[in-house]
Amino acid sequence: MSTPSQPSTVITAPGHNHGPLGQRLLAAGYINEQQLNEALAAQSTVDPNEINHLIGRTLVSLGHLTPSLLRQALVELFTEECRNDCGLSGVPPILSMKGVEKQLDGRMVLNGVDLEIPEHRITAIIGISGGGKSVTLKHLVGLMRPDRGTIMVKGKNLYALSVAELQRVRRHISLLFQGGALFDSLNVFDNIAFPLRETTQTSEAEIHQRVMRALDEVNLAGMEYKFPDELSGGMNKRAALARALITRPEIILLDEPTAGLDPIIENAIHHLICDTFMRTRTTMVIISHAIPAIFNWCHHVIVLHRGKVRASGSTPAIRESQDPVIRQFIDGDVDGPVDIL
Ligand SMILES: Nc1ncnc2c1ncn2[C@@H]1O[C@H](COP(=O)(O)OP(=O)(O)O)[C@@H](O)[C@H]1O
Ligand SMILES: [Mg+2]
Repeated sequence: MSTPSQPSTVITAPGHNHGPLGQRLLAAGYINEQQLNEALAAQSTVDPNEINHLIGRTLVSLGHLTPSLLRQALVELFTEECRNDCGLSGVPPILSMKGVEKQLDGRMVLNGVDLEIPEHRITAIIGISGGGKSVTLKHLVGLMRPDRGTIMVKGKNLYALSVAELQRVRRHISLLFQGGALFDSLNVFDNIAFPLRETTQTSEAEIHQRVMRALDEVNLAGMEYKFPDELSGGMNKRAALARALITRPEIILLDEPTAGLDPIIENAIHHLICDTFMRTRTTMVIISHAIPAIFNWCHHVIVLHRGKVRASGSTPAIRESQDPVIRQFIDGDVDGPVDIL
């Protein structure tokens, strides 16, 4: 295909790697080569590490692609990745637990948890309500101390660190609490700006720029001066997600990000998580009760049962598991080996 009006930039040189997203958009017929070259030239100053995703945004801003087609292409790429066993083997764990035990109110909530969270992948943790999923997440960020066992974060034993070192490690991790929990007395802007103001020296000018961009990314542009009680449940979750992402953490832990939302909003949140992942490839751990929907949105699944990891593996492997306990979770049967609390 000819590109007569193109400026002679290296970007359009033959054999230039358009990246998987550009190739996908071309192959699907969503755009043509000329449009792709135009977008590549328009973003030639952009960080090459971000090119895969930014090409999509540039195409949208040039009017060559609709946002919904971009979303669809990203989801297709992601789904393909997850279906192909996700290349999980050989991916080093960024977080791990070994032999973690925790007793709360006289009950062994964690009874020897061994797990590994692969870097640059999305892991879902599933299991019965009250089974210790939130407690597990709190251990991973150092909010709860294990009675026994070790927790490694980026190669460091979390509970052998000094307070200062622990704080430094925690800065790389963001936790979205179950329930979202925005500060009621702060507007959306100040809620999202909060972690930057509290934990960094970022200037107010840059905070403004980053918060506005984050709002745009979670489709809340124009909502910055609203207070949490003026927003719907889904909007609150999206704002909480923007707040969890604003410090550009290396690891994001999301505790039931879709709890209490209707299926359409749930789907929108999953798309947003996928979009964020495709843009940043940030390691994510999602606790979810959205079964089987969550299987479309993760590479790796950990099943927690009776204070232990019942199974851990690629999403297709867990989905096909014949373990009666896992089948009961997936199929939602009332009768079966799982004691309903
Ligand atoms: N801070 C706490 N003090 C005492 N018990 C707790 C505490 N946090 C959680 N638990 C108990 O631990 C169990 C697991 O809770 P949780 O991890 O929140 O479950 P879920 O899998 O639904 O997230 C529950 O029985 C809960 O009541
Ligand atoms: Mg929970």
